[in-house]
Amino acid sequence: MPDAFRELPPGLRPRTLMARGGHLRSQFMETAEAIYMSSGYVYKTAEEAEAAFANDGSRFVYSRYANPTVAMFEERLRLLEGAEACRATASGMAAVFAALASQVKAGDRVVASRALFNSCNYIVTQILPRYGVVTELVDGRDLAAWRRALAPGVKAVFCESPSNPTLELVDLAAVAELTHRAGGVLVVDNVFATPLLQRPLQLGADIVVYSATKHIDGQGRSLGGAVLGRDKLVRESLMPFLRHTGPALSPFNAWLLLKGIETLPLRVEAMGRSAAEIAAFLERHGKVARVLYPGLDSHPQHQLARRQMSGGGTLLALSVAGGKPGAFRFQNALKLIEISNNLGDAKSLVTHPATTTHHRFKPEERAELGIDDGLVRLSVGLEDPADLIADLDQALRAA
Ligand SMILES: Cc1ncc(COP(=O)(O)O)c(C=O)c1O
Repeated sequence: MPDAFRELPPGLRPRTLMARGGHLRSQFMETAEAIYMSSGYVYKTAEEAEAAFANDGSRFVYSRYANPTVAMFEERLRLLEGAEACRATASGMAAVFAALASQVKAGDRVVASRALFNSCNYIVTQILPRYGVVTELVDGRDLAAWRRALAPGVKAVFCESPSNPTLELVDLAAVAELTHRAGGVLVVDNVFATPLLQRPLQLGADIVVYSATKHIDGQGRSLGGAVLGRDKLVRESLMPFLRHTGPALSPFNAWLLLKGIETLPLRVEAMGRSAAEIAAFLERHGKVARVLYPGLDSHPQHQLARRQMSGGGTLLALSVAGGKPGAFRFQNALKLIEISNNLGDAKSLVTHPATTTHHRFKPEERAELGIDDGLVRLSVGLEDPADLIADLDQALRAA
């Protein structure tokens, strides 16, 4: 919202933008970005207050609408994504809900890929229908299924690519085209790919959403989220929704995320390199029934991954032989890697989706999603990959 961001030379590369972009420096000329823990702002005169409300966006009026530290985070992420506009939210789920709910009304149709994180699935299948929105899930890998579902009248289309936890991909360019032909907007949850490895807006998506809790913070400290897209769409439908429903990001959390972005490219690159090495190791391991990682030749959509992603990412899933007991023995035997349902962290973490993030689903629904009882999701962190491989190997042997 403010236009007082420090001016930078044109054509800067992402790493430079992440260290330098979006800085609102105060009169004190601080090096680090300041934390503005203020819920409101004062006006010198009643006329100034009147003008602030009449000229919407001309200055900060209330931190539910906008805040200087939050604005710095939004601007830095906007520059990285190459989006026209960015609005931050208190969590990734607030971002997903706002992105969808701000686009639809009773009677509209929403189509989503079925391979979704539990809470994303809940919004599409349980919450939106309560408000009269008709929703449908399709196999996101199947373009014919998208073609059948995306008839005129579809208002919003939603997908994760890669999906949590089975690393399924959606052909974003093709689905964007089908969505637009049907008159809808495509919303992409880009959490697994991160803004560094996939650019949904460049592939034709209208809105991209993040849980900034994951790689953007990347150090297990803060929840956060963001919605990015075209200026008109953000201004006309998303901003009124956010202002009046209030899922605002705390300035302190915005500051953590802002500092997180500075090291995001270094972390995603190092974690992705380790993930590729670990995926190759696990694929050769006798105790592993299958490995899902978009960067592996064996991934069923590897060619699509190569087309629309610039790396395989930091997450993979493995099916441990022996079903749930095998997966539990494996997790319990880990000595370095810990059990947690978070991801994108500097610390490597495993989770067993069937009994945690996806426990709400019936066994047959999980089977349809490819979440077998032996499936374990691994979020690869910043540790030395040799230490991670040694830990995984000893735990697999113990399982
Ligand atoms: C793909 C995906 N989208 C959204 C979310 C929700 O993010 P948050 O926990 O920040 O609300 C998650 C969290 O695990 C996720 O994995």
